[in-house]
Amino acid sequence: MLAVFVVLCGVCASRVSAGPLNDRPVIGILTQETEDEDMKPLGRTYIPASYVKYLESGGSRVVPIRLNQSQAEYEKIFKSINGMLYIGGAVDLVSSDYAKAAHIFFQLALKANDMGDHFPLWGTCMGFQLLTVMVAGENLLTNTTAENLTLPLNLTAEAWSSRIFQNFPVKLLKAVSQEPLTGNFHHYGVTEETFKGNKKLQQFFSILSTNVAENGAKFVSTMEGRWYPFYGVQWHPEVNRFQWRPSFQFPHSSNAVQVSSLLSEFFVNEARKSLHHFPSPEEETAALIYNYTPMYVGGFTAYEQCYFF
Ligand SMILES: *[C@@H]1O[C@H](CO)[C@@H](O)[C@H](O)[C@H]1NC(C)=O
Ligand SMILES: *[C@@H]1O[C@H](CO)[C@@H](O)[C@H](O)[C@H]1NC(C)=O
Ligand SMILES: *[C@@H]1O[C@H](CO)[C@@H](O)[C@H](O)[C@H]1NC(C)=O
Ligand SMILES: *[C@@H]1O[C@H](CO)[C@@H](O)[C@H](O)[C@H]1NC(C)=O
Repeated sequence: MLAVFVVLCGVCASRVSAGPLNDRPVIGILTQETEDEDMKPLGRTYIPASYVKYLESGGSRVVPIRLNQSQAEYEKIFKSINGMLYIGGAVDLVSSDYAKAAHIFFQLALKANDMGDHFPLWGTCMGFQLLTVMVAGENLLTNTTAENLTLPLNLTAEAWSSRIFQNFPVKLLKAVSQEPLTGNFHHYGVTEETFKGNKKLQQFFSILSTNVAENGAKFVSTMEGRWYPFYGVQWHPEVNRFQWRPSFQFPHSSNAVQVSSLLSEFFVNEARKSLHHFPSPEEETAALIYNYTPMYVGGFTAYEQCYFF
């Protein structure tokens, strides 16, 4: 009887928050190689400030994590933080320094959750794509271009009983399926057909929404782990509140803002279930992104501000 209980609990660990909550969560964001020619002179790696504000607005603090560190250094950071957000961008999903570091944290997160140590991951846009590559063990992306395009989500039946959308008022869930509240800025994605045809992806994630790309391909736009607190959106919830360039289609309606707020709060609440912490308050303070100053890049990028490292 006991063995059965233990096995079941291992499986449902990510769904049940039994223990105490951490009201001082810290979420890690990996810096990413600067690929944009205009931004390159400003720093070798960067993090757009919109992702940082997104997490801060949900009640978290953010730690930037540099690339090219050792496994031991990443393990130390992993034990200090309560979740990780994989940002959008444009680097190779397998061979870049970013992908390599992301992979290490993914493996650590899998192992921790298996042991009942709740550690959430969130992937946005390229982060979503990266999650599919890491789970499937292969790159299943094809052309699903939706560039500078706002869309309503085509919600699946699972969306209505999902964790991601659990705190959405029914009115807002209806709105997100009818109004163009999600900003898309991608060229690649995983089609619904590929996703459902891949055993690993299909077993790992529930598909919560799909959308149709400019070329007619139907791609998965929102997913959540069936057993792990891992979440992915092919669209960009952070732009709804934190990006404003007039030349891009960023949704800023009241409903769009609420979608963005509720998702950031949802993910930060997942991070509250993690009791990881820095060895000392001094080390925590030194690691926080508050030690860095973002730069205004609004004149020549889609972002308003970026941190450079
Ligand atoms: C990481 O290390 C590689 C190999 O030494 C180097 O080419 C690359 O520039 C480094 N990346 C960063 C972001 O420092
Ligand atoms: C939404 O998905 C359903 C189920 O796959 C499909 O029948 C429907 O045509 C889709 N609607 C849109 C607007 O893409
Ligand atoms: C993807 O498809 C669109 C529409 O068919 C096309 O315009 C675009 O060049 C393709 N992009 C890539 C990266 O292949
Ligand atoms: C984005 O879409 C809007 C509306 O269609 C358009 O006016 C704008 O030029 C586009 N921006 C870019 C950078 O393509």
